[in-house]
Amino acid sequence: MAQEVRGVIAPGKNEPVRVETIVVPDPGPGEAVVRVQACGVCHTDLHYKQGGINDEFPFLLGHEAAGVVESVGENVTDVAPGDFVILNWRAVCGKCRACERGRPWYCFDTHNARQRMTLTDGTELSPALGIGAFVEKTLVAAGQCTKVDPSVSPAVAGLLGCGVMAGIGAAINTGNVGRGDSVAVIGCGGVGDAAIAGSYLAGAAKIIAVDIDDRKLETARTMGATHTINSRKTDPVEAIRELTGGFGADVVIDAVGRPETYRQAFYARDLAGTVVLVGVPTPEMRLELPLLDVFGRGGALKSSWYGDCLPSRDFPVLIDLHLQGRLPLDKFVTETIQLDEVEKAFERMNRGDVLRSVVVL
Ligand SMILES: NC(=O)c1ccc[n+]([C@@H]2O[C@H](COP(=O)([O-])OP(=O)(O)OC[C@H]3O[C@@H](n4cnc5c(N)ncnc54)[C@H](O)[C@@H]3O)[C@@H](O)[C@H]2O)c1
Ligand SMILES: [Zn+2]
Ligand SMILES: [Zn+2]
Repeated sequence: MAQEVRGVIAPGKNEPVRVETIVVPDPGPGEAVVRVQACGVCHTDLHYKQGGINDEFPFLLGHEAAGVVESVGENVTDVAPGDFVILNWRAVCGKCRACERGRPWYCFDTHNARQRMTLTDGTELSPALGIGAFVEKTLVAAGQCTKVDPSVSPAVAGLLGCGVMAGIGAAINTGNVGRGDSVAVIGCGGVGDAAIAGSYLAGAAKIIAVDIDDRKLETARTMGATHTINSRKTDPVEAIRELTGGFGADVVIDAVGRPETYRQAFYARDLAGTVVLVGVPTPEMRLELPLLDVFGRGGALKSSWYGDCLPSRDFPVLIDLHLQGRLPLDKFVTETIQLDEVEKAFERMNRGDVLRSVVVL
């Protein structure tokens, strides 16, 4: 029997989000229903609300979540009712051209639930990133559930489901940050700070945080930044070069995703260095660069989808490192809120007041 629960939808472009009754079908073959315990508010949810991702309104927002599996459909063997899981948006297929070549973190055919959650009048909802988790219970593909140590707090665990994993992975998986590297991170929100924490974990010797908000720079220091630059007051390219012997950083991570921050990243890296774009641009943005500089500066210009993570490989390890006191995931939770406070959380995110607001249920 389908269940009726409360959840947060974005009804239309730039309209305020609101709490509605959501109909959650019983899990079909390969699906699971998860009782959501916590779900972080990510900038990508705001992109959805603003129509920056696509026009498939109404969206069921929320996608950085952890909870307990309530029921599973036929043919589900990897998770069972009662399991504590982080939801992921990379349930790999095992069969596409990326998976077949042994690179499942690029999987081009990830699994989501086949059935749709709806409003009570039958309107189908588009779940954000194929999850939709600002809701008491959600329907996902069983492969979207990654089991982790249940002794971690759900509010902390859920963050690994998107932004924090994207940031840590941008540094460690995509940027290959290693011992002794110099790293600069542009944009110190949840994603950028996670890139800083990931770089610290990987042994980077110099970690330069760049933001336009001094409060964000202060927090970045607590995540492991060794230097900070306010790019409203100081030219970040010159400052990063100065801090790296005049050369630029080995790896520069753009966790904002705008043409101007990308250009800063491009010129703030050393010759043969790496740029990692993890911030998500909007469709109208354009980048212009001298092609000779693209060639002449060498190195690698990479994008990081979800931190090139493999949830089954990365989530349990990062939770264990957190429980051992080696990864301060708890510092990302600025506040816990209720379902009806998501709209306010977007405003606080826009004002830069929070790293992460986390809905707890
Ligand atoms: N690639 C992925 O898989 C992935 C996953 C999650 C989120 N994201 C994206 O990452 C980006 C950051 O997300 P977030 O949740 O950390 O957002 P956020 O709003 O919490 O943080 C953004 C930060 O960037 C700073 N900033 C804004 N403009 C800047 C500028 N011009 N120069 C320097 N700093 C600037 C802000 O002050 C803020 O601290 C978003 O675009 C989001 O959609 C990508
Ligand atoms: Zn695949
Ligand atoms: Zn996200």
